[in-house]
Amino acid sequence: MMKRFALVMTLCLSSSAYAEEDIAEVWKAKCKSCHGEDGKAKTKMGQKESIDDMSLPAWQAAESDEEIRRAIADGSPKNSKMKAFKDKLTPAQIDALVGYIRTFKAK
Ligand code: HEC
Repeated sequence: MMKRFALVMTLCLSSSAYAEEDIAEVWKAKCKSCHGEDGKAKTKMGQKESIDDMSLPAWQAAESDEEIRRAIADGSPKNSKMKAFKDKLTPAQIDALVGYIRTFKAK
């Protein structure tokens, strides 16, 4: 019984590892052009719109998961360049992007 449980857990863990790779692709395809590969927004759009550097610990601390999720799903009320992605991404992808953005935090 425990063995079977362990097997199921292993399968779950490996499929989430796959999802992680997947979400890096989503970031590259849909977010990187403005936010940069590393979330630092050292891009043309980033400079023009003064997009926040997501690697800053202060930024990471100020933004809750919920706020990040909302910005991705509904867009930014402050800047229409940050569009709503809720029709283009699944809720699971949006959650995964929140986690992905957390990995940008500078060590
Ligand atoms: C066309 C350029 C563009 C693209 C593409 C883009 N963003 Fe943004 N994003 C912005 C701008 C501009 C802001 C700053 C908005 C503001 O000041 O409130 C922003 C802000 C954000 C914020 C922070 C909102 C806040 O409360 O400060 C998050 C999180 C975010 N983007 C996530 C994403 C994700 C995830 C993607 C890809 C699915 C994405 N963005 C794609 C332009 C873009």
